[in-house]
Amino acid sequence: MTAPSNLGHEPVLVSEIMEHFGDLTGKVVLDATFGLGGHTRVFAKSVGVNGRVIALEADPESIAHAKAQHEFPENVMILNGNFQDLSQILSSHGIKSVDRILMDLGISSWQLEHSGRGFSFNDPEVLDMRVDPNLPHPAWWYAKTLGEKNLRRALERVGERYAPRISSAVSGFVRGPVSAQALAGEVGRVAPQRGKLHPATKLFLALRLLTNNEEPNLETALEGAHKVLACNGIVAVVSFHSLEDRIVKLASRTSGWKALTKKPIVPPDAEITRNPRARSARLRVIQKECIS
Ligand SMILES: C[S@@+](CC[C@H](N)C(=O)[O-])C[C@H]1O[C@@H](n2cnc3c(N)ncnc32)[C@H](O)[C@@H]1O
Repeated sequence: MTAPSNLGHEPVLVSEIMEHFGDLTGKVVLDATFGLGGHTRVFAKSVGVNGRVIALEADPESIAHAKAQHEFPENVMILNGNFQDLSQILSSHGIKSVDRILMDLGISSWQLEHSGRGFSFNDPEVLDMRVDPNLPHPAWWYAKTLGEKNLRRALERVGERYAPRISSAVSGFVRGPVSAQALAGEVGRVAPQRGKLHPATKLFLALRLLTNNEEPNLETALEGAHKVLACNGIVAVVSFHSLEDRIVKLASRTSGWKALTKKPIVPPDAEITRNPRARSARLRVIQKECIS
């Protein structure tokens, strides 16, 4: 299946997700990370007039942006909310169960490049990084408040080799709102470039994870998914780093879930060439087991 073009944002692993989701005609699908609506539009076509797509997105600006670019069909309901609350959100809209759920984690290319929230190393904007405006603190606040030791630990968790020198430099540097560009520059002063990776790549990842509470949210969302899924319902999770992938792998081993993918599925080379953002995408698919 060909993915629709999407404001320069191409949904990842579409064929692989659709293969695991099977025939969607008449089904109810929850796209828990609507983003710019790339996957939602594929699902909307596949469920047909008797099916429904519920699309959830934490970032109201992304929703507004996607709606300004595309008209979504009537079988799509777009809701603003955090997927950690997915079971409460669905029940408040009278939706008792869904057949399929997608979680395409992280941020969209639009957020990375155009949201003005300091996600990119060259952004002159303040290092904010919140996908959900209701979150309490911007990323610079974590850089300022964590202290050298906690920052070093956060960096070590994401596998940063130069954690000690980066944590020392950052905690001395950030005294208040700082631009992404300035912080990335400071890291570049103390740590070398590694291949194509900017020296601040892992620092930015660690701060984004903390700012958006990403790992705990995913754990809670998987619990919520189990509650709202119909018998034998399926969840597909696309993750972009090993900490997220591990959460899905561990969940798939708990009772009530069955793994439909033994190892994570990676995008084919052709997709990576077409869409470099897909490079680190990993897909796991899990199914709700039913007690008979
Ligand atoms: C990789 S993008 C999804 C792209 C989307 N599949 C598409 O094809 O356009 C991830 C999206 O998830 C959203 N997001 C991140 N954390 C979220 C959460 N806890 N609840 C709901 N949405 C979240 C981000 O704001 C972002 O728009």
